[in-house]
Amino acid sequence: MTIRTTTEKISKSDRKLFTTPSHDRDNFIVPNCKKIFGNSFYEYDLSEVNGLDNLGNPENSIMSAMKKSAELLGVKSLFYLINGSSSGIIASMLSFLREKDKVLIARNCHQSVLNGLILTGAEPVWILPELNSEWEIFDPVSPSEIEKKLIENKTVKAVIITSPTYEGVTSDIKAIAEVCHKYNKILIVDEAHGALKSFYPEVFGENAVKLGADIAIQSLHKTCGAPNPCAVMLCGENVCPENIQNSLNLINTTSPSFPMIMAIEETINYLASPNGKKQISRLVSDIRQFKNEFQNDEKIQFCDFNDETKILVKITGMSGYNLSDSLFENFNIEDELTNNRASLLLTGLGTTKQKLKKLGKALKKIACYPNLPQKPTEQTPYFIPKMQMSLKNAYFSEKEEVSAENSIGKICGEIISEYPPGIPVLLAGEKIRKEHIEFLKNKKETIQVIKNR
Ligand SMILES: Cc1ncc(COP(=O)(O)O)c(C=O)c1O
Repeated sequence: MTIRTTTEKISKSDRKLFTTPSHDRDNFIVPNCKKIFGNSFYEYDLSEVNGLDNLGNPENSIMSAMKKSAELLGVKSLFYLINGSSSGIIASMLSFLREKDKVLIARNCHQSVLNGLILTGAEPVWILPELNSEWEIFDPVSPSEIEKKLIENKTVKAVIITSPTYEGVTSDIKAIAEVCHKYNKILIVDEAHGALKSFYPEVFGENAVKLGADIAIQSLHKTCGAPNPCAVMLCGENVCPENIQNSLNLINTTSPSFPMIMAIEETINYLASPNGKKQISRLVSDIRQFKNEFQNDEKIQFCDFNDETKILVKITGMSGYNLSDSLFENFNIEDELTNNRASLLLTGLGTTKQKLKKLGKALKKIACYPNLPQKPTEQTPYFIPKMQMSLKNAYFSEKEEVSAENSIGKICGEIISEYPPGIPVLLAGEKIRKEHIEFLKNKKETIQVIKNR
C-alpha cells in the first residue's frame, strides 16, 4: 500500500478523530480555501494518527515508501523533504559540520548553503568556478581545482557544489567524488535542478549519488511536475541515515503535510513507470524539435552545453534584459532569469508543445526588431572578498546602516545576492570593496555594516 491508499482508508473510515488538524478531513473548510484546494486536499490532510506514520521517526508507511523510492532511484537511502531542497541542504550541513569546521564550497551556491553556514557556524573555503563570458554563466567546477584546494586546506570536512546549476551546467561528479574520497571528504551536491536525472539517465546522466557523491538534494517541484516545495535527499553508503533524520528533525515542522508527502511518493512512482518515462521522453523530443527549427538561424542562439530542459537563449545585438523585457511586454512570456547576455526559460513536465511554439514565434519576431539600445554591461563582481569575521558571527552582530559610498572598507553585515539565481555578491563578514559599490550603485543606496568595526 502507498501512503495515499493508507491515508484514504483511514480518512474514509468511521474513525472519530479527536486529533489535529482541526478541520477533521472535510468537516470544516474555510470557503475560500475550498476554492484553492478542493475537498480532497482536506480528506488527505491527516496527522500521524494510528496506522499512519511519523515523518520525524518513520517506521511504517513513510519508511517503506522512502525505501521503495531509494530503490527506484538506485541509492542507499532517501528522505522526503516537505520544505524544499533548501531544508535538505541545511540538514545535510547540520549532519556533517560543526562550529569553525572548514567546508569547501563553490561560490555559485544557493542561499540555503549560506543559511547552513549561519546555522552550523562552519567556515567556508571558497572555490570560484570560471565565468563563461559568452553566456555569463558559471562553468562546471573543476575536479583538479577541488583537489588543489583540498591539498591547501587539509582540515576541510566536506565539499558542497551545485550541479546542475540553475542554467543547467553540470560538473563531472564522478571525478569530483573520486577526489573527495581520496582525501576522505564528504561530497554534498545541490542537485535541485537535476531531479529528472534518476528517471532518464540516458539523456540527463545519472544522479550524483549514483556517480559517487555522498548526498544529493533534488527539488521535484522544479522539473518533475510535483507541487511546491516537494523535494528529496538521496544518500550513499557513507551516510548514516539516523544522523540525517536527526538533523532534519531540527528544522522540520512536527506537523508535516501528508498531501505533500504523498505527492513526493506518487511523483517518484509515476516518473519511474513506463508512462512517466514516456512523459519525459515527450518533453525532451519537443524541446529538441523546438530548437531544431533555429538550426540555420544566424541571430538566435541556444546554449548547447547545458541540460537541454533549460532553454538559455540569446539574440545577436540584444542584451538578455532587452530580450526578457520584449518577451514579457510584447508576448506575455515570462522567463526564469536574465543576465546581460541571455534569457533563461525553464521547462519541465508541464511544458507543452504549444507553449514552446509560442516561444519560438516570439523569438523569431523579436530577432527582426531593429537593434535595441543595449543596457550597459554590468558584470557582477564575482570574486572572493576577504572574510574578516565568520558569516555566523557577522550575521548575529550589531549592525548599522550606512550609505553605500561610506561602506567601502567596512565589514558587510548582510547577505547581498542577485536573485535569481541567488548567488552571493557579498556576504556578512566580508570586506566591502570599491568594485562591489560600483556594481551596486543603482541597486542599493545603503548597506548594513558591522557596528564599530
Ligand atoms: C541551485 C538551487 N539550489 C537549491 C534551491 C532551493 O530549492 P527549493 O526551492 O526546493 O528549496 C534552489 C532554488 O531555487 C536552487 O536554485
